[in-house]
Amino acid sequence: MGLLLFYFINLHGLNIKIINNIIMRSYNLKEKETYMKNILIISSSPRKTGNSQMLCEQFKAGAEFTGHKLNLIQLVEKKIGFCRACDVCMQNGGICILKDDMYEILEQFKKADVLVLATPVYFYGVSAQMKTFIDRTYPIWQNLGYKEVYYIISAGLGEDIINRSLGDLDGFVEHFQRYEIRGRIYATNVMEAGIVRSLPVLQEAYQMGKSV
Ligand SMILES: Cc1cc2nc3c(=O)[nH]c(=O)nc-3n(C[C@H](O)[C@H](O)[C@H](O)COP(=O)(O)O)c2cc1C
Repeated sequence: MGLLLFYFINLHGLNIKIINNIIMRSYNLKEKETYMKNILIISSSPRKTGNSQMLCEQFKAGAEFTGHKLNLIQLVEKKIGFCRACDVCMQNGGICILKDDMYEILEQFKKADVLVLATPVYFYGVSAQMKTFIDRTYPIWQNLGYKEVYYIISAGLGEDIINRSLGDLDGFVEHFQRYEIRGRIYATNVMEAGIVRSLPVLQEAYQMGKSV
């Protein structure tokens, strides 16, 4: 009888330990899950080593350091056609008739908690690649969800030019169900590709990524 009681107490203690362990593990997992964000960076310069792309890479490095999940998409490497305005997607539950890389990008977009939109200034607007991306979100435009948003913009001239060029990005982001613009990185007076390499804005991009 004494021996039985001894086994019971020990087994009981073991069970409590195991249950405690399971609770602690799921608690830690939950903490990690809420901490880790899905970050989608849309880089739209046609220059593969351009200023805005370099800033995207720094932002990515900073965010990765903190443990977030990153996906950096360079639109120039993707096959993305222009929106045809056929409106088929408005009648078939949001399926675009164009079969190209935008399907996968929209899947990534839906999953993203954080969206980074990067573009050079072209004639007081965004790049053609960025505008094409924005238009192709049309199949899901009524269901764009909540996103934390960051802008990365490079321009040959000064900050006033950038401020005059934000209409396309703001107009897109304002269609989200909920959003917060959390940061803006402006690389001004950078005409040639790669100039940002020697500028403080590079570090600024890294720090912003780290602070997500
Ligand atoms: C077609 C074209 C149009 C441009 N228009 C402007 C402009 O309106 N204002 C400006 O400040 N810079 C303008 N630029 C300069 C770019 O914004 C600048 O070179 C920028 O650094 C490019 O970014 P990236 O290196 O990320 O490609 C233009 C460049 C090109 C090729």
